[in-house]
Amino acid sequence: MHTLCVTSGKGGVGKTTLSINLGIAIARTGRRVLMLDGDLGLANLNVMLGIIPKLTIHDVVRGHKTLSEIVMKTDYGIDLIAGASGIAELANLGETERQNVMRDLEGLGGYDVLIIDTGAGIGDNVVRFVLAADDALIVTTPHPTSLTDAYGIIKTVLAEEAKPLKLLVNCATSANDARRIASRLTGVTDKFMHGSLECIGYVPVDPLIEKSILAQKPHLILNPRSASAQRINEAAMRLIKHDNNLKSSLGRFLRKLIGH
Ligand SMILES: Nc1ncnc2c1ncn2[C@@H]1O[C@H](COP(=O)(O)OP(=O)(O)OP(=O)(O)O)[C@@H](O)[C@H]1O
Ligand SMILES: [Mg+2]
Repeated sequence: MHTLCVTSGKGGVGKTTLSINLGIAIARTGRRVLMLDGDLGLANLNVMLGIIPKLTIHDVVRGHKTLSEIVMKTDYGIDLIAGASGIAELANLGETERQNVMRDLEGLGGYDVLIIDTGAGIGDNVVRFVLAADDALIVTTPHPTSLTDAYGIIKTVLAEEAKPLKLLVNCATSANDARRIASRLTGVTDKFMHGSLECIGYVPVDPLIEKSILAQKPHLILNPRSASAQRINEAAMRLIKHDNNLKSSLGRFLRKLIGH
């Protein structure tokens, strides 16, 4: 299984929107996709998908449910685990709770890709998610504050581990615009941080994306032929290009996250 963590420095740059739509694009290749809402503040994934979770990771930590019992199916070929407060608890488990989570790790097989949508910022939990995942996708917009904050999270992650990072430029006005933005960040990471940052594409501003959120239905489902949907699709294909080589598992990811 391929684990992918979607994150950003600044909030509101499109992580949740892109996570869902990248997930749908990947599911269309026949891969089984599981989405995990790793946002500690507002749980947004389920809102954008128009579903109300009855159970979250909290119920697994408490030992009331197994991971496979809290998975929700959607109509779009992707499954979802709601995080809520349980996500913060994962990082701070007592021995009984740890055993509750570990016990059913292996019971949740069959997925090819796990996408974790995180909150913004350099908080401990976000960095832990990034480090535990195979791949980290940094989302930024061309806005200077978003770029500065993207630089901040890249620097923090690379200070912990020299892992290859991926970049997606959201709300770019053109391919040229995106290239310019990407080269500013990759220039810095290559020169000073010995990390690698691969730009996997860009997504233009599209009012249909905002509309799809109001409709609580994914953009790729409502507007599959729009230019922005095509750019999302291309980025998704670049993300999964080499994922057949990955021998990761949900168990491995959670073990790294929990720290045992
Ligand atoms: N390419 C785009 N074109 C137009 N609107 C967009 C685009 N990408 C995102 N948006 C809008 O930006 C808003 C924020 O998006 P989203 O909630 O996905 O960001 P986020 O990074 O997950 O935010 P948070 O940091 O709060 O979790 C949404 O209302 C969404 O419709
Ligand atoms: Mg979000």
